[in-house]
Amino acid sequence: MTERTLIIVKPDAMSKRISGKVIQALEEQGLQLVAGKLLQLSRPRAEDFYGEHKGKEFYEPLINFISSNPCLVTVWEGAGAIKKAREIIGATDPAQAKEGTIRKKYATDNRHNGVHGSDSAKSAEREIAFFFSDTEIFPWEEKVYKK
Ligand code: RTP
Ligand code: MG
Repeated sequence: MTERTLIIVKPDAMSKRISGKVIQALEEQGLQLVAGKLLQLSRPRAEDFYGEHKGKEFYEPLINFISSNPCLVTVWEGAGAIKKAREIIGATDPAQAKEGTIRKKYATDNRHNGVHGSDSAKSAEREIAFFFSDTEIFPWEEKVYKK
């Protein structure tokens, strides 16, 4: 089923200048970039975005980190995009992430883990609407161009 998912290149990955590698990894697996913007989350926006984690011991440091510098916020479309992107990203803790995943290759630790990906259809819908209006998303249509 064609799905959309929200992927955030987090401040650590932006500062390491690997946003291109994240985009490349998703594109190589057949996902299509359909929306994107560079922005810095304010604290209240970050608290709203990660509201499900409020009260957990990592919540405050997570909010501090995600709002500390700009992120590249993107929407991707493709067959089974939500699960596929999570597989490409890898486990939350890079030490546990499988070989070849973005977090294994580029992340620093549990918090500075490079990338966010929506974890379900419900989250994807909420998270995409959190950042983008319908007119900012460009649905994928197959177009063939000569190289
Ligand atoms: P994300 O939401 O960022 O894609 O990451 P995730 O689904 O793999 O992990 P989640 O459980 O949703 O946690 C959200 C973010 O909180 C930070 N975190 N720190 N034990 C810890 O110190 C810890 N656990 C989670 C990470 O930045 C994680 O990506
Ligand atoms: Mg999550």
